[in-house]
Amino acid sequence: MSEIELTRLSGHVALTCLLLSLCRIKARAFGLAAALFGAAHALYTVSSPLIEDVTHLYYEPHLRAGASVLFILLILAATSFPRVFRIPEWKLLHRLAYAAGLLAVHHVWLSSHATGAAIIAPAAVVGLALAARACYPRRRAVRTGTLDT
Ligand code: HEM
Repeated sequence: MSEIELTRLSGHVALTCLLLSLCRIKARAFGLAAALFGAAHALYTVSSPLIEDVTHLYYEPHLRAGASVLFILLILAATSFPRVFRIPEWKLLHRLAYAAGLLAVHHVWLSSHATGAAIIAPAAVVGLALAARACYPRRRAVRTGTLDT
């Protein structure tokens, strides 16, 4: 398997985990997996000849988008155990997962090898997840009256 194929494969594994998490399927487990695979994808890519200089992570929009997604995913992973960290605005912070989804679509959009389907499919999932979040808030929050809509 060539370097670019491995890069794309690891990126798609990370993105699939992120999308499953946004669809609220085992959200924490898939969110942690997205951070793990995203970090592996980034480490592999940065150490490969695909990226000549790490400063490109800042100056190149495609790489900056990927680095931003990874940054958010790592923050969410580090704070994904609210009983351990006790962050007051935990729920608000974890809505950043949707921003990570949008930025990931942007990252794929700017990838030189991405096909139309590779861009449209995750964009549709992130859009539907956002719409579902707006229209159908968590049932438990409604039941307990803690919903802050
Ligand atoms: C520092 C962080 C990151 C770097 C440096 C990076 C870099 C790259 C590079 C160089 C490619 C190949 C682009 C090409 O087609 O020429 C790529 C593809 C890809 N990346 Fe990343 N990435 C990062 C983070 C992420 C994260 C966190 C995700 C998902 C959660 C992700 C998802 C993807 C996907 C899905 C592709 C394949 C797009 C396609 O061609 O179909 N990346 N990335």
